[in-house]
Amino acid sequence: MAVFSFTSVFFAFCWLISQVGGSAICNFTASSLSFDSDTTVLSTTFYSNGSTIPLPGTVASCAINSTIATGDLCRITLNVQTSCMSSIFLEAWLPTNWNGRFLASGTGGIGGCVDYTVLQSGVQQGFATLGQNAGHNGSTGFDFFLNNRESLIDFGYRSTHIEAVTGRQLVEQYYGKPATKNYYMGCSTGGRQAFKTAMMYPEDFDGMLAGSPGVDWLRVVSSKGILAGRIGWPDVSSPAYLSDDQWTAIVAEQIKQCDGLDGVIDGILDDPTKCGFNPETCACGTGVLNNSVCLNPYQVNSVRQAYLPIADTKGDIVYPAWDYGVATDVFSKYPTSYAILSDYFRGAIYNNSDWNSSDFTAADMDFAVKVNPGSVNTGESDLSAFFARGGKLMAYHGRNDNSVTSRNSENYFNDVQRTLNLTITQIHSFYRLFFIPGMHHCTGGPGAWDIGQNGPVPTDMLTVQDNALMSLVEWVESGVEPESLVGTKYTDDNHSMPVLAQRAHCVYPNVSVWDGIGDTKVASSWNCRLPS
Ligand SMILES: *[C@@H]1O[C@H](CO)[C@@H](O)[C@H](O)[C@H]1NC(C)=O
Ligand SMILES: *[C@@H]1O[C@H](CO)[C@@H](O)[C@H](O)[C@H]1NC(C)=O
Ligand SMILES: *[C@@H]1O[C@H](CO)[C@@H](O)[C@H](O)[C@H]1NC(C)=O
Ligand SMILES: *[C@@H]1O[C@H](CO)[C@@H](O)[C@H](O)[C@H]1NC(C)=O
Ligand SMILES: *[C@@H]1O[C@H](CO)[C@@H](O)[C@H](O)[C@H]1NC(C)=O
Ligand SMILES: *[C@@H]1O[C@H](CO)[C@@H](O)[C@H](O)[C@H]1NC(C)=O
Ligand SMILES: *[C@@H]1O[C@H](CO)[C@@H](O)[C@H](O)[C@H]1NC(C)=O
Ligand SMILES: *[C@@H]1O[C@H](CO)[C@@H](O)[C@H](O)[C@H]1NC(C)=O
Ligand SMILES: *[C@@H]1O[C@H](CO)[C@@H](O)[C@H](O)[C@H]1NC(C)=O
Ligand SMILES: *[C@@H]1O[C@H](CO)[C@@H](O)[C@H](O)[C@H]1NC(C)=O
Repeated sequence: MAVFSFTSVFFAFCWLISQVGGSAICNFTASSLSFDSDTTVLSTTFYSNGSTIPLPGTVASCAINSTIATGDLCRITLNVQTSCMSSIFLEAWLPTNWNGRFLASGTGGIGGCVDYTVLQSGVQQGFATLGQNAGHNGSTGFDFFLNNRESLIDFGYRSTHIEAVTGRQLVEQYYGKPATKNYYMGCSTGGRQAFKTAMMYPEDFDGMLAGSPGVDWLRVVSSKGILAGRIGWPDVSSPAYLSDDQWTAIVAEQIKQCDGLDGVIDGILDDPTKCGFNPETCACGTGVLNNSVCLNPYQVNSVRQAYLPIADTKGDIVYPAWDYGVATDVFSKYPTSYAILSDYFRGAIYNNSDWNSSDFTAADMDFAVKVNPGSVNTGESDLSAFFARGGKLMAYHGRNDNSVTSRNSENYFNDVQRTLNLTITQIHSFYRLFFIPGMHHCTGGPGAWDIGQNGPVPTDMLTVQDNALMSLVEWVESGVEPESLVGTKYTDDNHSMPVLAQRAHCVYPNVSVWDGIGDTKVASSWNCRLPS
């Protein structure tokens, strides 16, 4: 009985709050950078733990029709009008079993899809959790950007800030008191949104978890087109072009040649930047690759080009090299494998639905950086305000990232250190980067990559050691600086037991080194050390 009436209170509150929303007002005279906004509550529904939440009308490219509640929760959906031509969709999951904290999430790729994995894991851990759509719906397309400066601003930086502000207000109204601390987590574009927000709105969050961040986003996106051009695309009949089978064989050969450098033969290059691969070894006649996959001299040159860093039109290096041992599909199968470049340049850079990316060059990249629509780029590295207010930033990046090359995170960390003129101890007091060997982009890969970033985990894995968000909370609230995180490799990569392997991941520049004795699948056999 007691449970029943408690639940009805939440039903009643869900109803009550639906009466609070104002009506949308289109402020036609507002300057484009105005944060004046108006909020409409679209729905409020109570869901019990384990029940299905239908998501009718979600655009197909978001590839989700329903999700599952991970606790008893009040789901509130809202629309925030950000200008007369733009709005942000927000979705709050407010758990009955609240831990007193607020968690906001980011989006991936070109934005446009609520990250339900974060809503699910946030509520599993008791956070009042928000999701957002970055100002448009869908993970592909460009119509939403065409001729719409305001929508570009939402994607560039406004949506996460609005999410923070609205989320805090919502939490306070719903629970009758503000959250004790405010957190953020997101990956890829969500990682970019983290750094952008830390820079522009340092007060928004106390702790931020930034995965595989697409900082310098315009160059991340441009790099795919430039690398595709270097290996002969779009002329797939060119003698310089390589087949899928050839790329597979070459990447396998890189792993074979460099696997032992880190002391363990496990198919994982812990630090791919240490690999000194020479494409000549894969030429026909060397006997390394057989006749069906070995390289002609043009292809040897293509492979060499594919691993050079990217320069701008002045010849200055502006984006780091692709890592050895990482699948190349994202540029070798461009554009089937990567629509973002074409979509973003059509909608946001050239405002032209017919623009074709087939002869993409550094000039297009430079132009995009100059335009910087909606201030999307995070090339700047001045995190001084976030540092000064005591914010904590935990970043992670897979060393087998097949979309954003991992060196991008290394460069960015070093830039921030230089910009703020900090010692390594000082920068580590607020910003820690963890490399995860053998992890693809955000999730997946042969390594022990799961640190709780991929949806709800078995409850005994919700520890400060195993869960990055818990570790961040411990850092923010108890001042315990995280020195390592244990990553887990689950059966089927989807939290199915048993656990296949675990391993410690370290704070950059430290690396995890096998002790030479213990089982390499056990975390305690790995220690964090300064690199030799
Ligand atoms: C509308 O825009 C004007 C001019 O930018 C601004 O001064 C005003 O506060 C805005 N009003 C509302 C209700 O957003
Ligand atoms: C969503 O529903 C549509 C229509 O029933 C279906 O075609 C699609 O495959 C579903 N998508 C997912 C991810 O379940
Ligand atoms: C939700 O249900 C799952 C599965 O029964 C259970 O493990 C979990 O503790 C429940 N969560 C809450 C917040 O009650
Ligand atoms: C995005 O989808 C949500 C939920 O389906 C809807 O309420 C909102 O109006 C859509 N936004 C845009 C800009 O189409
Ligand atoms: C975008 O293109 C459309 C159609 O060609 C044109 O009407 C509009 O003025 C352009 N917008 C901008 C911002 O250049
Ligand atoms: C050639 O090598 C590739 C890659 O190692 C392998 O998949 C293929 O089966 C080999 N072909 C022949 C004819 O041995
Ligand atoms: C872009 O141009 C290439 C080469 O001319 C052509 O093969 C391709 O179909 C075009 N793509 C689009 C989407 O129009
Ligand atoms: C950087 O910090 C060092 C040590 O605190 C100091 O000596 C130096 O003057 C600083 N450099 C700049 C450019 O501020
Ligand atoms: C995990 O993936 C496997 C293989 O795809 C599937 O059989 C299983 O049902 C999945 N388990 C969960 C909990 O999603
Ligand atoms: C890096 O490793 C050294 C030992 O080699 C240790 O003293 C130091 O505390 C570690 N740094 C961090 C940030 O964990």
